[in-house]
Amino acid sequence: MPHDSPSPAPARLPLTTQLRRRKPLESFAADVDGSATPLRRTLGVWHLTAISIGATLGTGILVVLGTAVPLAGPAVWMSFVLAGVAALLSALSYAEMAGSVPVSGSSYSYAYATLGEGVAWVCGWCLVLEYAVSVAAVAVGAGQYVDEALQVVGLSLPAAIADPPGAGGVVNLPAAVLVLLATAVLLPGAREGAWVNTVLVVVKVGLLVFFVAVAATAFSAGNFEPLAPMGAAGVSAAASRLFFSYIGFDAASTAGEEARDPRRDLPRAIIASIVVITVLYVLVAVAAIGARPWTAFTDGEATLVTIVATITGQPWVAFVFAVTAVAAIASVVLTVLYGQTRIFVAMARDGLVPRVLGRVSPRTGTPVAGTLLVGGAVAATAAFVPLGALADATSIGTLFAFALVNLSVMWLRRHRPELDRTFRVPLYPVVPILGCASCVLLMVTLGWVTWVAFAVWMTVGGAVYLGYGRRRSVVGRAS
Ligand code: ALA
Repeated sequence: MPHDSPSPAPARLPLTTQLRRRKPLESFAADVDGSATPLRRTLGVWHLTAISIGATLGTGILVVLGTAVPLAGPAVWMSFVLAGVAALLSALSYAEMAGSVPVSGSSYSYAYATLGEGVAWVCGWCLVLEYAVSVAAVAVGAGQYVDEALQVVGLSLPAAIADPPGAGGVVNLPAAVLVLLATAVLLPGAREGAWVNTVLVVVKVGLLVFFVAVAATAFSAGNFEPLAPMGAAGVSAAASRLFFSYIGFDAASTAGEEARDPRRDLPRAIIASIVVITVLYVLVAVAAIGARPWTAFTDGEATLVTIVATITGQPWVAFVFAVTAVAAIASVVLTVLYGQTRIFVAMARDGLVPRVLGRVSPRTGTPVAGTLLVGGAVAATAAFVPLGALADATSIGTLFAFALVNLSVMWLRRHRPELDRTFRVPLYPVVPILGCASCVLLMVTLGWVTWVAFAVWMTVGGAVYLGYGRRRSVVGRAS
């Protein structure tokens, strides 16, 4: 069905029936094949892996690491391993779902095919936290490195245009500009965006390897004693904080309709990216603590550049490092923004969000109007909301969506055992059960303020569904 065909007046189903209505797996393929203006299949396994790494390596390792060290002490690398294991368990479930339901909507589409419209809407609404809100958080993190780079050359932005209201300024201009630039890059086509992203991924992996090499020259084993001064509680609190740094590995699963061979390549891309990311994070954490006693880490500084500047004593090295870090974070903004626009394409096609978000331009093969709308809204959020509030909301929404993907795998195994799966979760059902449990555990350790914000967000989501999606849903219509 073309994306913008007019909606006939829907017949209403009872709410509970509609919430449980599932989208038949076969109709996902029909949506794509029957679309007058389909997305273009241009992405191979390297592009997909780069999309996931691009969406993941950024503010978490470059900024949030500094705030986790005071919680865990030298054992912060163990916190990365813990958060990485939780992410890997869910990544395996994502890989199985991506190989079975290779469409654009990520966990939203998986939930629609398995757990029904109600859970799918909840999932899609959580994905807005994972994607759109996290882009804003990540862009705000980039602002710290812009500041750092300017300070090295003796300049600084006036607070009024460097910080949002509530953090001493009026508008966070660097963050908003970064989002608008990423929006412009995404307009011409997924392949152009993927090409720019692949270059940025190479740059940021190089940046972290450079950091490890420099920090290794100042390595002191004595910095690791005592290993965990705050005990296991500190290590797990830091793991919850650092989960933010793993958010995004699932971004390849938003590209199912632009992948050349999604059933083969999506599982490979998701697993390869999480392994590369975990190894890099642990290396960076060990190198950072080895080079600088954990007691010297303070909140709110661009941690890695401070270490590099101290060891090399060369301002220009610190300058190049800070500028490269901004580019690194830019690739997170680019890929996560991409993911949000594709999730909206899937949701708009199902009628749960306005159709304009899913309208694909015949000229570019991309959702131009949706990209402009999402880019504009995210730029405004990045300009006016402080980082802390954004980052916490992102984590809780993401963990909830991940838990639902683990449940979707179990539902699909039980109800569609015959389905052709290009990847199967090992040690089933232990892995998805542990995946779900670890997400819930990490959610529980987040503070009550975050829970209140989450409750408000979900209530608004419920109202939007009742006011819009319920009436416009294509799947939920009585036939
Ligand atoms: N994982 C992303 C980052 O660390 C959100 O920037």
